[in-house]
Amino acid sequence: MRIGVLTGGGDCPGLNAVIRAVVRKGISTYGHEFVGFRDGWRGPLEGTTRELGIAQVRGILPRGGTILGSSRTNPFKIDGGVEKIKSNLAELGIDALVAIGGEDTLGVAAKLTDLGVNVVGVPKTIDNDLGATDYTFGFDTAVNIAMEAIDRLHTTAESHHRTLVVEVMGRHAGWIALHAGLAGGANVILLPERQFDVEQVAGYVEKRFQTQYSPIVVVAEGAQPLDGQMVTHNQELDAFGHVRLGGIGQWLAQQLEEKTGKEARTVVLGHIQRGGTPTAFDRVLATRFGLHAIDAVHEGDFGKMVALKSTDIVRVPLADATRELKTVPVERYTEAEVFFGS
Ligand code: F6P
Repeated sequence: MRIGVLTGGGDCPGLNAVIRAVVRKGISTYGHEFVGFRDGWRGPLEGTTRELGIAQVRGILPRGGTILGSSRTNPFKIDGGVEKIKSNLAELGIDALVAIGGEDTLGVAAKLTDLGVNVVGVPKTIDNDLGATDYTFGFDTAVNIAMEAIDRLHTTAESHHRTLVVEVMGRHAGWIALHAGLAGGANVILLPERQFDVEQVAGYVEKRFQTQYSPIVVVAEGAQPLDGQMVTHNQELDAFGHVRLGGIGQWLAQQLEEKTGKEARTVVLGHIQRGGTPTAFDRVLATRFGLHAIDAVHEGDFGKMVALKSTDIVRVPLADATRELKTVPVERYTEAEVFFGS
């Protein structure tokens, strides 16, 4: 078979580990041939490719980002997009695609499956918000980066008797904030899943100062105060209709400074959470996803996504992957609340 591989959406550590596993097993075990599509769905749409053999995947296991490039291109938003993809795949002699992506990339994969394109999906996102898998790769690395930042912020916050607000990514799911906040010993964690009362947050901050330590407040970029007003830098939507989040940390620090009379500063971790080398957990998960994805392609089991269920890799319908956003359940948030303000 001649198989195309693409990576779409926000990049994350572990993408190269998947590509390597797919190509290594696909060539050495099954004797397939590969074509790398550049920049997500833009590759099949414009017919832009790069060579993808064993030589091209050597040394990429620990490398962050993606050797194929990525984009948030949505072919369903482009006139004749699907027809272009189909004709380019036919012209390049592509029998099947491995699409590595999150909600949006896999949403396109699910729709293309219904239109007769042979696709197998691999779930990636630092946000860990895909319903059909216990974990996505990239999440563990992002959490570790944020945790390390919080560890460092504790000591500087204490030296200056300040509140430090740490804004983390995660879009509409609070997984990164919850895990990084718990692992880093944050004194308040604010998630998109539950609106927060800024007066109560100020109360936690005061309480923490009374212990002679300084508060670290972890806020997810999608968290919102009680009045429900979304705080964003920019209201422009991307091709999948997402608003660019960010700005809540700055707003919150100002509020806390006013309410507590103590200096408050903000650290926005931003894309640092997505860059650099993957953790061992993410390398192993990404590699296992890649090995199982090429098995699915080889068996002709299309329209599926590989997923982690407990410690096993299973196959689920692509449509299930994007049906529902996996958000933090209330009981997980309640666990973390024990540490707030103390
Ligand atoms: O989905 C991954 C993610 O990093 C989100 O956490 C964040 O909201 C978004 O992507 C940022 O996207 P961009 O790469 O367009 O800045």
